[in-house]
Amino acid sequence: MFPENRPRRLRRTDTIRRMVRETRVHVDNLVYPLFIKEGSSLKEPIDTMPGQFRYSPDMLPKLAKQIAAQNIPAILLFGIPRKKDATGTSAHQKDGVVQQALRRIKDAAPELMAITDVCLCEYTDHGHCGILDDKGQVSNDDTLEVLSTVALSHAKAGADIIAPSDMMDGRVGIIRESLDENGFEHIPILSYAVKYASTFYGPFREAAGSAPSFGDRKGYQMDPANVREAMREAAYDIEEGADMIMVKPALPYLDVIRLIADEFDSPLAAYQVSGEYAMIKAACERGWLSEDACILESVTAIRRAGADIIISYFAPRLAELLA
Ligand code: PBG
Repeated sequence: MFPENRPRRLRRTDTIRRMVRETRVHVDNLVYPLFIKEGSSLKEPIDTMPGQFRYSPDMLPKLAKQIAAQNIPAILLFGIPRKKDATGTSAHQKDGVVQQALRRIKDAAPELMAITDVCLCEYTDHGHCGILDDKGQVSNDDTLEVLSTVALSHAKAGADIIAPSDMMDGRVGIIRESLDENGFEHIPILSYAVKYASTFYGPFREAAGSAPSFGDRKGYQMDPANVREAMREAAYDIEEGADMIMVKPALPYLDVIRLIADEFDSPLAAYQVSGEYAMIKAACERGWLSEDACILESVTAIRRAGADIIISYFAPRLAELLA
């Protein structure tokens, strides 16, 4: 027997479920990351990320138009240069791979926001995110100057938003200053403020050829065990002038996303990284999980945790599912 005044749960039809849903993912929330490799006529499959490719800049006009036609508002660009050196010179050349890509994309689909990842790991021969000192340690302050040069060269080539991902201290401030001094006051900075030293970047490093040739990134990326540190990192970047901040990876760090969303009022992005993508892809290829359902549930969870913007390799599929 039920007690007479028992609490009642809402019985849901599909329509009622839609009416009372608390979290919605919209195509406007999505950013699609792209790997751009120097060369021509390239569309190279990435083994560790089935369904993702390395494109050469000449392939981008068509691709950019397709992405824009899906109403995905933004892409995030990563460059894979032909030449690497100790200081990442190819990251800030006028005709560098990202700079070429930006011109092609802005020509073909000016409404598509081009966000550029600013970091040196794809451009240094040692694969670290900064410049090394004579002891082989990343030198924070020597790196700042180069990063601001990279950011400026992206802005000059047409970047709409600059996203520093290197995790050097003080980079947001110095990039803001150099953008402002050169007439790019209007270009926002989306800072990878809370970036963990995560094993889930593995497939990306294969995709971008950016694995460090020695050591790891634990000296400058965050310890997965820490959350107070995340608050501090976010506060510093906002103080230095970040317009939007990011937590990365996403799904293993939903608690961090929630805390940052509650604590700070700047727009918040979360990055569903390469390893999160690869896990879902691998399980679905084996028939152990169902892909579309995984995509929708994981991205809804990231939104529910408090992210405004979701950067995801699933963006094109999601746009289809949401249409
Ligand atoms: C650094 C950068 C990385 C990712 C985005 N920017 C790799 C790293 O820090 O090692 C990882 C993104 C992903 O795994 O999808 N340039």
